[in-house]
Amino acid sequence: MILPEGLFPAGPYRLHLTLRRGEPRDFFGPQDSTGRIRAERAKWLAAEPGRYAALRPEGEPLLAEVGELAAREWGLPAFATVDELGRRCEPDMLLLSPDETGLFRLRGGALCFPTGWALEEKLGHTLDFIHGVVPGLNAALASPIQQFLTRLKPGVAFHRDNWGIAATAELNLHPARQLAAPALPVALDRLWLRIEHQALLALPRTRGVLFGIRIALHRLDVVARDPAAAAGLRQALATMSPEMARYKRLDGIRARLIESV
Ligand code: HEM
Repeated sequence: MILPEGLFPAGPYRLHLTLRRGEPRDFFGPQDSTGRIRAERAKWLAAEPGRYAALRPEGEPLLAEVGELAAREWGLPAFATVDELGRRCEPDMLLLSPDETGLFRLRGGALCFPTGWALEEKLGHTLDFIHGVVPGLNAALASPIQQFLTRLKPGVAFHRDNWGIAATAELNLHPARQLAAPALPVALDRLWLRIEHQALLALPRTRGVLFGIRIALHRLDVVARDPAAAAGLRQALATMSPEMARYKRLDGIRARLIESV
C-alpha cells in the first residue's frame, strides 16, 4: 500500500506545516475517468445547494480567476457559479483572500465531502477562527500558516495531507448527516484511514488562494498489513494528546485500536 510521504512522521504526534511542491493540473485536473466522483458531487449539490456550495461577494473575483485557470490550464470545462465549480471539479474547492488587515478569510467554494465541518459555519471567517476547534493548532501554526499563504508563489501547487479514522466509507461527512464516530468493538474491516490530500495554489490576479481537498479512503485491515503504515499509525495514536484524540473522535477506540492495528 502506498501512503503519502510523511503522513506519519517519525517521532511523537505533532502538528506541522510541511508542504510538497506539485503541478496544479495534476491535482485540480480530472483524474477519475469513471465520472463517479463528479456524479456524487452533483447528487449532494442538487439535494442541498446552499449547504454544499456558497459564495460571499468578495469571492466572486476569486471564482472568476479559478474558472479561467481551469479552462486554460487544467483541461476542465468553464464554470461561472460555485454550483458549477462543485460539479465540474473532482476536489472540493475553497476560495480565500486577505481582508483589509491581511488575514486570510474563507470567501466561498464547493465542499461536498467535508470531514465533519460545515461550509456555512466557516464562511467569511479567518483561518484562526476556522482552526479554533483543532486543539493546539493556532498556538503551533497560526502565524506560520498566515506567513506561508501571504508569500505563496503562483504556478505551483503546495501539497499537504491530514488523516483521520472513519467508521464509514462515505465521502460526505457533513455534520448534519450525524454519521457515527468510530466505536467499540474495533473491527478493522469496518474502519477506514481517511486521508485528505490538500493543495494550496496562489491566485496571482486577485491575490487570493485556492485550497483544494481530495479524499482517499484505505480500509484499516489493508493498512494493518503494511508494517510501516501500521507502525506509523500506532505511534501517532499512542502519542497524540487526549484533546486531539477527542477532536478526531477517537477517544472511544484509541487504546483498542493501537492493539489491533
Ligand atoms: C496551510 C496550512 C494548513 C495547515 C497546516 C492546516 C492544518 C490543519 C489541521 C492539522 C487540521 C486538523 C485535522 C485533523 O487532524 O483531523 C485542520 C483542520 C481544518 N482546516 Fe486546516 N490547515 C491549513 C490550511 C487550511 C485552509 C487554507 C483552510 C481553508 C478553509 C483550512 C480549513 C480547515 C478546516 C475547515 C478544518 C476542520 C476544522 C473543524 O473540524 O471544524 N485549513 N487544518
